[in-house]
Amino acid sequence: MTMTFTPSRMVQELARRSQRPATRPGPEMISLAAGDPDFATPEHISQALADALAAGATHYAHAQGDPQLREALAEQLAEVSNRRCGVDQVLVTHGGSAGLAATILAAVDRGARVILPEPTYSLYADLTWMAGGEVSFVPHLEDLHLDLDAIEAAAPAARMVVICTPCNPTGVVYTEDELERLAEIAAEHDLLILSDEAYDHIVFDGVRFTSALEVDALADRLVYVQTFSKTYAMTGWRVGYVAGPPAVVEAATRVHRAFNGPLNSAVQRAALVALTEPTDWPQRMRREYQARRDIVTRMVAGVPGLELAEPEGAFYALIRFRSELSSLQVVERAAEQGVAVRSGSEFGPDGEGSVRVTFATGRELLVEGMERLLGLLEEIGSER
Ligand SMILES: Cc1ncc(COP(=O)(O)O)c(C=O)c1O
Repeated sequence: MTMTFTPSRMVQELARRSQRPATRPGPEMISLAAGDPDFATPEHISQALADALAAGATHYAHAQGDPQLREALAEQLAEVSNRRCGVDQVLVTHGGSAGLAATILAAVDRGARVILPEPTYSLYADLTWMAGGEVSFVPHLEDLHLDLDAIEAAAPAARMVVICTPCNPTGVVYTEDELERLAEIAAEHDLLILSDEAYDHIVFDGVRFTSALEVDALADRLVYVQTFSKTYAMTGWRVGYVAGPPAVVEAATRVHRAFNGPLNSAVQRAALVALTEPTDWPQRMRREYQARRDIVTRMVAGVPGLELAEPEGAFYALIRFRSELSSLQVVERAAEQGVAVRSGSEFGPDGEGSVRVTFATGRELLVEGMERLLGLLEEIGSER
């Protein structure tokens, strides 16, 4: 008898709710879809990997992460937060993704509620659903900052709020005042705050970035998730980390150990070099992203009917269009024009009516892709 495989209910549920794409755009497309920098990983980091392999870093690593790497991370975290951070408070993870997964699966029970200010990175909702939790989407204010009154209204009996700053997909950097007020709400309602700061090194001129680590009132309820992927153009290396209160990190470590096992030993040696060796690479990449951000903003401004709040950080632009078509339909139409973008609705209900483009793609392709997309958005705008 041939077997008919039915995926678990969890997978069925995820497939029904999630709009995260299951496939990557083909080579015939200009991709403004994925958040993968077009820069090569800086040479000294790749060399460190080769050196680590040659030195025999080919065995199982410590389950919570290479002790030396955790020590260096704890030191850096203490510097930013101005508070002590023990090595037991750091878990090295299989990219930021696994850090998010370990945290959410460690903290969210069946039926527990997670507040997601949105539009926001779509993995948070998927992981909450996987854990059997419920998502409370709270739309951002018109300026795409946190609607703190609405978060407060949603807070009673919730478990956690997940924020992303600089925000993927909006490019907004939350202010210190916003984070302070969020801390007050969190204390009042005993919430965990998960702050994903994957793009903290990609903040454009004149904007002051405040890490949630700097907010003392969050100290005992903050889970901080970070990744080497974006800062050092290391998306394929799969290394990130979680830092937080020891009890949360211990629980997250259990999940990560069960799902991922110990991380690649040699990669962690190279990550230590990325972290500790002085380099101006992140700044150089940031300058280029800013030039690309300016190109995108200028191009969008030239098309009537489109709206874009100039991104303050990260490498995404969330473009609001006017059309009877849904965001998903616009993404399909864009694909027919040979340009891959992401549907705003993937990032929460309030993303409907927008598409997200990535400017981690080189200038030439970026301009060509934007021309195709804007031509389409202009055309569908005038069909109304
Ligand atoms: C906001 C945010 N967090 C986390 C990640 C995950 O990155 P990685 O798993 O490569 O570390 C991404 C990737 O796009 C992201 O945009």
